[in-house]
Amino acid sequence: MKKLLLGTIAAAVVASSSMAADYTLKFSHVVSANTPKGKAADFFEKRLEELSAGKIDVQVYPSSQLYKDNAVLKAIRLNSVQMAAPSFSKFGKIVPNLALFDLPFLFKDIDHLHRVQDGEVGQALKDKVAAKGIIALNFWDNGFKQLSTNKEPLLTPKDAQGQKFRIMSSKVLEAQFHAVGANPQMMPFSEVYSGLQQGVIDGQENTNSNIFTKKFHEVQKHMTITNHGYLGYLVVMSKKFWNSLPADLQANVTQAMNEATEKEREYAQELNDSQLAQIKAYADKTGNLTIHNLTAEQKDAWRNAVSKIYPEFYSDKTIGKDLIEKTIATK
Ligand code: LMR
Repeated sequence: MKKLLLGTIAAAVVASSSMAADYTLKFSHVVSANTPKGKAADFFEKRLEELSAGKIDVQVYPSSQLYKDNAVLKAIRLNSVQMAAPSFSKFGKIVPNLALFDLPFLFKDIDHLHRVQDGEVGQALKDKVAAKGIIALNFWDNGFKQLSTNKEPLLTPKDAQGQKFRIMSSKVLEAQFHAVGANPQMMPFSEVYSGLQQGVIDGQENTNSNIFTKKFHEVQKHMTITNHGYLGYLVVMSKKFWNSLPADLQANVTQAMNEATEKEREYAQELNDSQLAQIKAYADKTGNLTIHNLTAEQKDAWRNAVSKIYPEFYSDKTIGKDLIEKTIATK
């Protein structure tokens, strides 16, 4: 009874605080709540509601509940949704240059990547998004991607020949798989599990966290730790929504976003490590999945096979030679 009463009071407080809110901010994303992006979005919700003293009611919709992949950017422009954090590939039609981050083996490590995002190249990319009428907030991490398949285990590039891989909508990822004689198939994230289960595709590439939380490892026979490419996000906001906020609430958004970004980088590191351990535990327990590690020679063979695609993206209409060279030169 006491419990029931407390529950009723809590529900009434939540209802009255959202009734009192002056603004509703819907944040749509496609991954599970227990991912770097999902946890950071939830942190942002809590923090912004606190900072704005309940004037902004943040509602987070995970797992493509509101919008799938590319559709969300159109919705942001129309202010049908106020915030999203699409992966870089999904900006292809608006700012194709963001596919810089899809280029395989471009970043030496996560620190190099952060220096690029926090420096001149990151700012130039945000400016391009702003020029398209979308507020570009911060870059968020997921991590480096691994390969998995139900066919030949992927140890050398020639193993990928003829295999069908799901890719995000990215010309770079298309070129990457063509470079090793594979068949890339663009597919929304929400359809990957059933695509693998039903054999529409043989394999896929994604981070440990996305593989684990969407159970892709349960419908794959082989997973190879390649860390060949990076997956991350640009958090964006509807310009109409941003402009509707008074200056003090805009400052609250900026602060909550900066704090969430710091947390997000920690979540990304922690979850990609702990969720890989959980995938390994599943593999050991069931015997249904084999995890492969590459030798230094095998990794070099992948690097050589796929890095040759960079010149295909030298035009500014795609990524731009300047951005690629500045990224490589970033110390
Ligand atoms: C994917 O489509 O694989 C990713 O972009 C999903 C995500 O948002 O991490």
